[in-house]
Parts: sequence; structure tokens; C-alpha cells
Amino acid sequence: MAEHQDHLASVVTYYDTHPINEQQIMHSLQARGVDLDNLTEEVLKEHDQDHFGGLQATDVLASKAGIKKEHHVLDVCSGMGGPARYIAHRIGCRVTGIDFTESRYLSAIKLTEMVGLDTLVDFVHGNALDMPFEDNSFDVVIAQEAWCHVPDKPRLIAECARVVKPGGVIAFTDILCTDKLSSGDMRRLRSEMTFPDLETINGYARLLESNGCTLLEHDDLSKVWTKVLEGRLAMYRSLAEETERSFGAERAREWDDAYEFFVSRYREGRLGGARFIARRDRAPVQDDVEDAL
Ligand SMILES: C[S@@+](CC[C@H](N)C(=O)[O-])C[C@H]1O[C@@H](n2cnc3c(N)ncnc32)[C@H](O)[C@@H]1O
Repeated sequence: MAEHQDHLASVVTYYDTHPINEQQIMHSLQARGVDLDNLTEEVLKEHDQDHFGGLQATDVLASKAGIKKEHHVLDVCSGMGGPARYIAHRIGCRVTGIDFTESRYLSAIKLTEMVGLDTLVDFVHGNALDMPFEDNSFDVVIAQEAWCHVPDKPRLIAECARVVKPGGVIAFTDILCTDKLSSGDMRRLRSEMTFPDLETINGYARLLESNGCTLLEHDDLSKVWTKVLEGRLAMYRSLAEETERSFGAERAREWDDAYEFFVSRYREGRLGGARFIARRDRAPVQDDVEDAL
């Protein structure tokens, strides 16, 4: 993926200097008086989710995707593995996560071992555009607020459709643009939030359909997320001193400016978001094809 090297490097820097990180999670657990040698998923799950709407949003996604105990789920861009651990713990299924940022991948492994979920949950360090998995490997592919960072959405959806089994489900939520987003807004989001480009609801619907998937449902989350994001901005501001201690005053200020701008674009209806549930179609069996001729 030589053409995306610079972009991938900026995504890694963005997540290497993200206010939510392993050290910050440890600090907040210690502040609650949690014994880190006996950490459980029941406690960790409140601290390690990096998407909009927290555990409830993951519950809705998992339920709409029909995830069952016997399934093997792939979380594409799994971050520190919060949703992967939560789904495996709640449902009892196997979950694999893939993430390109090495620090996120290493934190995911460490946190998973700490809560003893490493027999069900594993992680791969890799690029969502070029996944090291065989065709038809997973029952369900999920993602939450991550594909906004991935360039070449046609290739991303093609990769997800390749690795999910026929009849399997691709279920995800993502940050979207609306027709009100200006090219100047997009330039800022590209440089400050590392979003190379953003899809629309119709854009994802077309990509799913053209990759042999049937879109079963989609829900526009733009209004709900506008409220959720006001809360996230406040949460990041509450972490400002810790962000400054970890990554310096300039990064803390940059983060605040970038996030304030991002949330303002939701307030103004220029950014949106949605949940998509799609099923990969089964290839027609040869007899059906011949009958149809
Ligand atoms: C907002 S985090 C989402 C984490 C997770 N969904 C959660 O809810 O906790 C986005 C993640 O996407 C990863 N990412 C971005 N571009 C990627 C790519 N091309 N391939 C794999 N991972 C990528 C980043 O490294 C980051 O960890």
C-alpha cells in the first residue's frame, strides 16, 4: 500500500498521542481503587471503549448483527480491543481484532491478558486494506468509528466482503459527511483528525451492494451522535491536564481545537453518522444458475 504510507503514518501518530490510551486507562482504574493484578472485564469495560455511545452502542450492533456464541467475529480497526473483549465476554464467541497502530495492538494484547480473555480474543497487527486472512473466514465483521480513517473505502469494503463467510454479516457504524461539508472543512478533518475522506449513507450502501452484500438496514445516528459528542468533548477536556503531561501542551491544545471543530460540524449538520447491517449474499448454486438460463 505504498500510496497510503504517509496517511497511515499520520494515523499512527494520531493514535500514539491520543488522550485515551493504556496509561490513562490504568490511571483511571487506579483512581477508582481497582487492584490491577485482579482486573476483570466487568470493571475494564467501562474504561476501554473508544467509539460513540459506549457499551450500549456495541450491544445494539452485536444484537443487530446476530452474533452468537459459536461465531468467530472480526473487529476491523479494533484499537485497544474494548469492543472485542466486551463482545467475547458477554456472548462467549471468539473475536479477532486487526489494527494498524502498533501501540494500540500491543495495548489490546496486554489488556486482554490482564482480564484473562486471551483464549477467546486475539489481535493481529495489520492494515484493513490488506488483511492477512483467508477468504470466507469470519461469521461477522464489525467496526465502530474507525473506517473514517481508512483511505480507499471501495477496497476496504471489498476486503471485508472477502473475509466474511457467504451468509455472514458486516455490521458497522461510521462517521459520514453530508452535502453541507465544505472542501475547507474536509481539508481540516484530513489534517487534524486523519480522515482521508468520508463516505455518505448512499456511498456505503452502493459499495456494499457492489461487493455482493444486501443492506438489511441502516440507521441515521447523526442527531444522537451530536449529543454524544458534546459529552465526549467534555470528557476530553476533563483529561486535558493528563494529555498535556503525556504528550505536551502543544498536542493537548491541538487536540482540543481539532475536537471542538469536529463537534461543531455535527452541530451544524455538516457531519453525520450511521449504522449499517449487511449480509454477504451466498453465491447462487450452479443448478440455480442453470435453471435461470
Ligand atoms: C477510534 S479507534 C476505534 C477503536 C475501537 N473500535 C473501539 O471502539 O474501541 C480507530 C482505530 O482504527 C485504527 N486504524 C485506522 N486506520 C487503519 C487501517 N488502515 N488499518 C487498520 N487499523 C486502522 C487506528 O489505529 C485506531 O486504533
